[in-house]
Formats: sequence, structure tokens, C-alpha cells
Amino acid sequence: MPQFPAERSAQLLRKARDAFRPDDRVRAFLAPGRVNLIGEHTDYNEGFVLPAALDLGLVVLVAPRADGYVVAVSADEGPDDCFDLASPVRLEGTIWSNFVRGVVGALQEGYGGLGGFTLAVASTIPIGAGLSSSAAIEVGVAFALCETFGITIPRPDLALMCQRVENRFIGVNCGIMDQFVVANATGGHALFLDCRDLATRHVPLPADDVAIVVCDTTKARTLAGSKYNERRAECESAVAVARRRHSGVTALRDVTPEMLDEIEPDVPEHVLRRARHIVSEDLRVLASVDALAEGDVATFGRLMNESHVSLRDDYEVSCPELDAMVEIAQSVDGVLGSRMTGAGFGGCTVSLVRVDAVDALERAVAERFPAASGLTPAVYRSTASAGVHEEDPAQLLGESVLP
Ligand code: GLA
Repeated sequence: MPQFPAERSAQLLRKARDAFRPDDRVRAFLAPGRVNLIGEHTDYNEGFVLPAALDLGLVVLVAPRADGYVVAVSADEGPDDCFDLASPVRLEGTIWSNFVRGVVGALQEGYGGLGGFTLAVASTIPIGAGLSSSAAIEVGVAFALCETFGITIPRPDLALMCQRVENRFIGVNCGIMDQFVVANATGGHALFLDCRDLATRHVPLPADDVAIVVCDTTKARTLAGSKYNERRAECESAVAVARRRHSGVTALRDVTPEMLDEIEPDVPEHVLRRARHIVSEDLRVLASVDALAEGDVATFGRLMNESHVSLRDDYEVSCPELDAMVEIAQSVDGVLGSRMTGAGFGGCTVSLVRVDAVDALERAVAERFPAASGLTPAVYRSTASAGVHEEDPAQLLGESVLP
């Protein structure tokens, strides 16, 4: 990651200098946001995904403290939080530091070894845009605390622990993709993940030829939570019907296109379409990994376009704003593929763009999207970044945390 933006560094340093004590040894950690290139809604169906870490990220500064308290401050959001490690950790309304609380509870329950600490965060990941700002804070805080207190957790287990925090403490029923890629990505690569056995492959992206461009519709994802749970239930009902004929089926991952034809008479039409998206999307992810291995970015782009159609028509998790953004991108010469990314119902699209066409895409979005949607978009160009890691605080923020 290049240096954290100067203005954000200054905000974080101001906040941190109030929170830390002069003799604290402050360490810095960076957790990236993520964009999913292809493989949408497949993770909770035990299928395949291909996300990448972004160079938008969250900085976590941390230092141990001797009094057994946790003090957590954010340069982005209030209020500051302070709690005693000796008392059970509780969820506190909707405050930002619930992510810290959840991670603390999970570490205490599963691993032990945690002492008091002061923690300060700042993030360049837009909140609520579907770029995994939540996974970044969970994984960033968990990794920072493990490093600070000498707690050893393999990265895949760290991701699973953070997913449990999201599912059980925060109460969002997400799959494993976001936490996994934030914890395990490698710079310059997308991460192919088999969500059944968590086997991975780091897939190089030809960064000299193509760029990843994320376009934020800025449409709030209000329906995302309820519809997400509805889709999960629809997938489970399709699995139950498929299992009546094929006892080995435990998830849509096991269902073939032929099996879909067999169950067609026994499931409602919309449930069949949900299943068809998952089954076809898994195949598209596998074909994408093959295409990238052969340097065939044109095929990869075409698969992204097909993924969008499937998410829009079969899975029905797109919205007019996402469709408009995708249509604008696909009309620009040099855009190889474009699709909605993340849970849907708002948030962002991801496009694969020839490097020399990125400016044209940015212009087209700025000129046409506001008229199409009434919204002011944001565009991020990103390289594929590394997963969570330690940084030198002074280098990352431009000056030492404590003068
Ligand atoms: C959200 C969830 C992920 C995944 C995507 C859809 O980002 O957190 O687990 O299900 O939606 O692909």
C-alpha cells in the first residue's frame, strides 16, 4: 500500500496522540477492503469465489496498557469506547467499536492471552458501499491484537473467527469470502477460494494490461440484509429438493446443470432461478481462473458480463442504479467486463478495463451516471493489494505517532 493519504493520516494522528501515552510503543497494521471479481453469493453455497484485496484500507494503531482496560478511538466515527476486560463483553447499541468488542470477546473465549490495550483506527474504505469495511475492521483488529499479545492463529482460522464475530456478535449472516480475502490476499493476485474446504490459489492479475475499477453507485444497500437472508433460505430449499433425488447433495455446490433440469418440476420457478445462478456462477468462476491462467482477459471479461446478467435476472439482487452503472461501463471501448459486486441492492460495480481505457471509463461514469440515477458516483482505481499486515507507523502515516 502506498502511504495512507496525508489528510487521513493527520486526522488519525490527532486522535491517536490524545489516546496513547508518551511511553507507549505503538504498532501499526493495515487491513484492506475487498472487491469480488466473480463468484457472487456462492460462498454460503460452499462454492467458489475470486475476490481481490483493494488498496483502500483501514489502519489500526495499537499499544498494550497495564490497567486491563480497552480504550478504542476512531478518526472516522464516534464515540470513543472504554471497557474493562474483566467484565463480559457486551454489544453496545450500534456503535462502531462493537467490531472491537466482538473480536475481544472471540479472542478471550477461544484463545486467551489478551491484556488491556489502546487502539486507534482510520479507514479509507467507504462504509456501506459493499467493499467490506466491516471485515477490514474485524480482521485488522484481530490480527493487530494477535501480533501485540503473541497469540498465534493461522490466517484461515483468523478469518473464520472474524466471520463468527460478524454472524453471532454483530448479527449479520455473511459467508466466509470477505474475512478470508482480507486475511489471506497476496499483492498483485486475486484469491481463488473454495468455500467448502477453504483451499486457495493465488491467481496473478496482468496489471500492466488491465486495471480493476470499482464504481460506487452511492445507493444505500437498504434491502441487502433482509433479501440476503431470503436468498439463503431459497438456496437451502432448492438443496432440500435436490437431496431427495441425490443423497450426496449437501449444498448447491454439489448440484449440476442436469440436476437442475430434474428438480425443475418440484420447485417454484423463482427458486429454480436462484439455484441456476449459483450453479452457473460456480462454473463461471472456474472458467475465469482458467482464462486468467491463459492470459485470456477477454474471456474473463465476458464471464463477468454474464455474471451480471445472472445476478440481475436469476438471483434478482441488482437494482436500476447498478444496472445503469454496468451498462455505462460496458459501452466504453476497452472495458472488457463489468458487473455488480458484493451482496447487491446498491453499492458498487467492478470492471475489468484495459489500462489505456480507464480515463474514458471515469469520464463516461461522471458524465452519464448522475443523469441516469440522480446520484453522484465515486470511482476507485485499485491494484490488487496484500491482505492484513504490519506496517512501519512513521512510514505509513508520514510522521511518528508519538512525537
Ligand atoms: C456479502 C457477504 C459475503 C458474500 C457476498 C455475496 O459481501 O458478506 O459473504 O456472500 O455478500 O457474494
